[in-house]
Amino acid sequence: MDYFRYRRGVLHCEEVPVPEIAARAGTPSYIYSTRTIVDHYRKLRDAFRRSGLDVLVCYSVKANGNLSLLKLMQHEGAGFDVVSGGEIHRALRVGADPRTIVFAGVGKTEAEIRLALEQDILQFNVESEDELEVIEGTARSLGRTARIAIRVNPDVDPKTHTYITTGKKENKFGLDIDRTRDLLGRLGQYPSVRLAGLHMHIGSQIVQVEPYVDALRRLLAFLPECEKAGHRGETLDLGGGFGIFYLEKSARPPEEFANALLPLLAQAGCRLILEPGRFIVGNAGILVTRVLYVKGSGTKTFYVCDGGMTDLIRPSLYGAYHRIWPVETEATVEGDAPDEETWAGAATAADVVGPICESGDFFAKDRRLPPLRKGQLLAVFSAGAYGYAMSSNYNSRPRPAEVLVAGGRHEVVNPRETVDDLLGRERVILMTP
Ligand code: LLP
Repeated sequence: MDYFRYRRGVLHCEEVPVPEIAARAGTPSYIYSTRTIVDHYRKLRDAFRRSGLDVLVCYSVKANGNLSLLKLMQHEGAGFDVVSGGEIHRALRVGADPRTIVFAGVGKTEAEIRLALEQDILQFNVESEDELEVIEGTARSLGRTARIAIRVNPDVDPKTHTYITTGKKENKFGLDIDRTRDLLGRLGQYPSVRLAGLHMHIGSQIVQVEPYVDALRRLLAFLPECEKAGHRGETLDLGGGFGIFYLEKSARPPEEFANALLPLLAQAGCRLILEPGRFIVGNAGILVTRVLYVKGSGTKTFYVCDGGMTDLIRPSLYGAYHRIWPVETEATVEGDAPDEETWAGAATAADVVGPICESGDFFAKDRRLPPLRKGQLLAVFSAGAYGYAMSSNYNSRPRPAEVLVAGGRHEVVNPRETVDDLLGRERVILMTP
C-alpha cells in the first residue's frame, strides 16, 4: 500500500499533485510520502507485537538517512540500525535515544566504537574476534561495559540477488556457527563486554519466509550454549531484509513473516529487534525526472532524462526493475499507474536513460511506455530505499532535492546540491613536478 495515486491522469503524492512539487523543487527530485512510511512501520511493528512480544523496530538508516525522515521514525518510537559514525550522528541529530541504536558492520573503526561507547548505544553487533578485541580495549579505557550481540552467519540462502546476500558462508558478514561457539566459550576473557544476545541479517529484498525460519532455528540452537557459558541471551536481533514488490503495488504482508517466526520466538522468550529499511521506505518514495530529449536510433528509442545512475543506481548495479510512468498521463487513468506488462495502449519499447557518460546509465531497457515528449515528467517508482542513499557526484553532478509530503503539505527537506557544495572544500594548488 502506498499513497502515490493518479487522479484524472495526474500523479499525486497523498494530496499534492506531483507536477506542483516538480515545479517548486526542480528535477530530478525524490518525493517521499510520510503516510506510507508510517503505515509500513506500524504494520511491521504490530505484526510482531501482536504476540505480546517486546519488539524494538530499529529502522535501518542506510536505506534512507534523510534527517526529516529519521525524525519521523524517531517520533513514531522507532530505534535505529546504523553502520558508521556518520549514521550514529544522523540518529543523534534527530534526537534518537542512544539506547535504541544498534551498530553493525564488518569494519567499525576504533573512533566509531569510541563514539558509540561514549553515547552508550544499545548494542554492538559484533562481526569478528578482532573487532571484539577493539571493543573490549576501548570500553576498558573508558571505564564502560559494552553490550554486544554476536552476528551469526547462519549459512542460509535467502534467494535474492547475490550482491545483497549476506548470510551465506562465503559472505564477509558475521561469524560462522563454529566460531560463534568458540567465541561464546571465551567471552570470559572480555570483562568489559556483556553479551546481550545474538544477531543475524541474511540479506535484503527477501520475499520468502523459509530462509528466516531456517536461520532463526540455527540461532535458537545457541541459546542453551549462551546460558551454559554463563550469559543470558536476552535479545534476538533478526536484522532486516523484508522484501517489497517492485512490479506490483503493495508491500508483502508482514504477517506472513510474523506468523512463521513468532511461534519459534515465543519459546525463546527473548526481546526481539528488527532492522527493516527497504520495507519501510522503499515504496514510500519516487524519483521524478524530466525527459530532456527523445532520440531514435535505428529500431531503438531512447528517452534521455535529467536524472540518471548518479541519482538512482539500482537498475545499473543490480539490474533492478523499477516501474516508470509519465507523471501526467491520459485523463482516464485513476489510482495506480497502468501495468506495463499488460498495458493495452499504443506502446513503444524504449530505453529510459540518463545523461551520464556510461552505457550502464539507464533506468529501464526495452520498456513498453506510451510515446513520450520532450519535457515530460516521469515517475520512477519504489525509489525510497537505496536511492538517494546511494547517489553520487560522478560527472560532477549535484545530488537531487528531497521532498517530504504530509497530506496536502510538502517541504523541500533537503535542497538540491549546488556547485558550491561540490567544489567548496577543494583547494586549487598548482603543483609542478
Ligand atoms: N541490517 C543490516 C545489518 C543490513 O546490512 C541491512 C542492509 C539492513 C539491516 C536493512 O536491510 P533491508 O531491510 O533494507 O533489506 N543497496 C541494496 C541493499 C543493500 C542492503 C544492505 N544491508 C539495494 O539497493 O537493493
